[in-house]
Amino acid sequence: MNQASFEDGLRAELSRLAKAGLLRRLVTTSVGSGDSVVMDGKSVVDLSSNDYLGLSRHPLLKRAAMEAIDKYGVGARASRLMSGNFHLYDQLEEAIASLKGTEASLVFGSGYLCNLSVISGLVGPSHCIVMDKLCHASIVDGALLSRARIIRFPHNDLEYLEGILKRKRQDYKGVLIVAESLYSMDGDFAPVNELVALGRKYNALVMVDEAHALGVFGKRGEGLIAQDSQEKPDLIIGTFGKALGSYGAFCATSKVIKDFLINKARGLIYSTALPPGTLAANIEAVNLVAKLTDARQKVLEIADDFRDFVQGELCLATRGKSQIVPLILKEVSEVVALEAFLKEHHILAKAIRPPTVPKDSPRIRFSFCAHHGRDTLHLIKKVLREFFKKGQNS
Ligand SMILES: Cc1ncc(COP(=O)(O)O)c(C=O)c1O
Repeated sequence: MNQASFEDGLRAELSRLAKAGLLRRLVTTSVGSGDSVVMDGKSVVDLSSNDYLGLSRHPLLKRAAMEAIDKYGVGARASRLMSGNFHLYDQLEEAIASLKGTEASLVFGSGYLCNLSVISGLVGPSHCIVMDKLCHASIVDGALLSRARIIRFPHNDLEYLEGILKRKRQDYKGVLIVAESLYSMDGDFAPVNELVALGRKYNALVMVDEAHALGVFGKRGEGLIAQDSQEKPDLIIGTFGKALGSYGAFCATSKVIKDFLINKARGLIYSTALPPGTLAANIEAVNLVAKLTDARQKVLEIADDFRDFVQGELCLATRGKSQIVPLILKEVSEVVALEAFLKEHHILAKAIRPPTVPKDSPRIRFSFCAHHGRDTLHLIKKVLREFFKKGQNS
């Protein structure tokens, strides 16, 4: 096949995606003031970011990053197993293990890389991975890469999960159960304690991704899995790219699993270590997050208020009880039209379409952050009232 005919095939697929309203494109963004960003030359209030505590621009994190750049330079120059393992890693991994109340932790380049590497490093073809149907793409991709048998259970359906464990546990050398403590597109929670109990009962490892809960939940921002909880999952994943404001991720776990992953996790072995500035910002964020009780309360209050509005006044479907509020509609064309209407009115909230979410529940995902004020909430409500009133009249 020559290049021209290969590209013809790519164009045909792109045009199919465009016709179905599923085409993705990159839009250049620059930082605006307050809770806004500038996109396509237009200032919009940003309800699409995961900067839940506003730490991405926090002066203490910026200063820590700049000081580390000054001292070490902008890059790590090598992988962690070569000469990229600056002592900042030890500091960060100790701080995380203490925040999560685990024996150890291991830092990776990003949440995507962490899930990919941890799952594929830990289990193989003689194992079975049993995961919630709504698990993030990075978990699915890690499972595929591992070549283990994959079984997905209906969202949060513990009875179904137990049925699988009862029937299948004996067929495999080991079983890994995977879930997220807070689901990123639905804003709802996993029954973590029950998952851990099932893991113990059927001698299966349990891994829980706290990507969206970290920073926002927990007395000290440790997430939904309490620092002092006796029965924790065997592996807890968290990322620095969301509430902690920067970049990178971790797996909080036992010392033995950490040592094993250092030997088997390909995303750690074969990838350049994180830049020193990023590590320093992450250390600052982990230390700071414990103190941000007011910000945690504020973000959850504003999200609660909005969720009540969606259900009560708009009579539309939503889910969960977190800072992530999905507004669920029936048709992809409706969510695409609503995203455009919001943007026209200076609000950035993204349409989430299949395959990221099921075909019958495309949605607009509103993610609230501590820097969003009541004025922002009033604006969103006003614009949504207008959109749905217009729909009724047309
Ligand atoms: C549950 C979950 N895990 C992992 C990731 C990936 O994290 P990162 O953005 O740090 O790659 C995401 C990102 O959206 C996520 O939602």
